[in-house]
Amino acid sequence: MFEAFISGTGSYLPERRLTNHDLEMMVDTSDEWIVQRTGIRERRIADPADATSDLATRAARIALKEAHRSVDDIECIILCTVTPDTYMPAGAVYVQRALGATRAAAFDLSAACTGFIHGVTVGTALVRSGVYENLLVVGAETLSRIVDPTDRNTCILFGDGAGAAVLSRSEPGSSSRVMDSYLRADGTGSCLIELPGGGSRRPATHESIDAKQHFLRMQGKEVFKFATKSLVELIEVALERNHLVPDDLAIVVPHQVNYRIIEAALKKVAIPLERMLLNLERYGNTSAASVPIALHDAVTEGRLRRGDHVLLVAFGAGLTWGYNLLKW
Ligand code: UT7
Repeated sequence: MFEAFISGTGSYLPERRLTNHDLEMMVDTSDEWIVQRTGIRERRIADPADATSDLATRAARIALKEAHRSVDDIECIILCTVTPDTYMPAGAVYVQRALGATRAAAFDLSAACTGFIHGVTVGTALVRSGVYENLLVVGAETLSRIVDPTDRNTCILFGDGAGAAVLSRSEPGSSSRVMDSYLRADGTGSCLIELPGGGSRRPATHESIDAKQHFLRMQGKEVFKFATKSLVELIEVALERNHLVPDDLAIVVPHQVNYRIIEAALKKVAIPLERMLLNLERYGNTSAASVPIALHDAVTEGRLRRGDHVLLVAFGAGLTWGYNLLKW
């Protein structure tokens, strides 16, 4: 078996900022409520001319440069998203076209906020088994296109953005590698976060649009409980399965959604807050993009050193949850 490692990361955040004060003009909320209940101060909103693949392509170009790989080295593009440009064809083909990655296969992977973790898991299997030498895993979202701007339960949380990683082959026994991955799902919680309309169960009709079924819905309190529980489980399982203690983790990169979820989880696992990479204050929840954006932040802030154990953890709609443990 070969090893797979992350040879480069990148991210792209749209320029337009939607602040809590802007939201005060749109719905019955306040900066104080949002900051106290979530920790979010602003999020980014994609330019109307951009679709998810445009954000994904920009993040991917940076990751390629950082990885010292050219587009011709890329043999596969996995786009993790719940907001593809179109349902058919897959959003990944627009990234493939925009990059000019003519050698690459391209497909979408839908696992909501845990999407990037799934993408790294699948990509690692493809690299380790010798199918591909270099592939791109991109988490990208334009959630502003599926958020109801009049629903204060959701519109305060979500933002747009993209993050990318190049996964590359290294020789068996290489130190720098994806050490372990763990994926879980519980479909009995599918109604807790959903976009009910537009699929085969409830195809789009005038009535479905009038009923706002094309917008994301969330039962926040229930999801909060699940998120806290799953974050604790992910950290504990990662430590146990890999015979590590909390101090062995140089950094934990969690799905960015709510500061209180992190705080509640840290009461149960002995990891200091400084070791959690947090950027939700600036970008809010960008679903599948949130972990790769935060990972790229960790790289650019110089927080990762060779040999560090890095834990990527995420949870979200499905319900789904999972981790990737990396040796940097
Ligand atoms: O990425 C997928 C994973 N998603 C998540 O992990 C989301 C997890 N959930 C959350 O982060 C939190 O549940 C929210 C931030 C969404 C909501 O916070 P909460 O502390 O659970 O608030 P709540 O829903 O229990 O609402 C408390 C009160 C309610 O008023 P009453 O009934 O007590 O009078 C809400 O109507 O706050 C009210 N409220 C708001 N007030 C001002 C709800 N949203 C807002 C708002 N501004 N935006």
